[in-house]
Amino acid sequence: MADEMISDFFKKDHDEIDALLAAVDFDRPKEALPILAEFDRRLERHIVWEEEILFPTAARLAPPLAHGPIAVMLEEHILIRKDKRDALERLAAGDGAGAKRSTAAMLEVLGGHNMKEEQILYPTCDRVLAGAQAARVMDVIREKSRG
Ligand SMILES: [Fe+2]
Ligand SMILES: [Fe+2]
Repeated sequence: MADEMISDFFKKDHDEIDALLAAVDFDRPKEALPILAEFDRRLERHIVWEEEILFPTAARLAPPLAHGPIAVMLEEHILIRKDKRDALERLAAGDGAGAKRSTAAMLEVLGGHNMKEEQILYPTCDRVLAGAQAARVMDVIREKSRG
C-alpha cells in the first residue's frame, strides 16, 4: 500500500465516485437523495485532496504545472462544484428532473476532466513526486480521511 501509485489511487477514487452516481435513479428522488448526497461528499473529498495536497505538492516540485494543467483543473473544479451543488439542492427539493439536468451539465465537464487527470496530470504527478514525496502525499491523504 505504501508503494501505491498516485495515479492508481486517484483513478480508483474516480471509479468509485462514478459508480455512486450511476446508482442514482432521478425518477425516485426520495430513494436517490442519500446516494447523491454520498456522491457529493465523496467527490468533494476527492477535489479537496487534489487542491490541498496533490496539486500544491506537484506544483512545488514542477512549477510550470501550476500555470498549465493544474490551473485548468482548478477552473473546472469550480464548474463541477456548482453543478453538483445545484443537483443536490434540486433533488432535496424533490425535483428529480431538475437534478438530472444539473447532473448532465456537471458530467459534460467531469467526464473530460477525469480523463485529462488520468491520462496526463496523474501520470505526471507519479513522475515528479519521487518515492518519498508520493508516500508522504498518500500518508497525508490517509490521515485526512480518518478525521
Ligand atoms: Fe479534479
Ligand atoms: Fe480527480
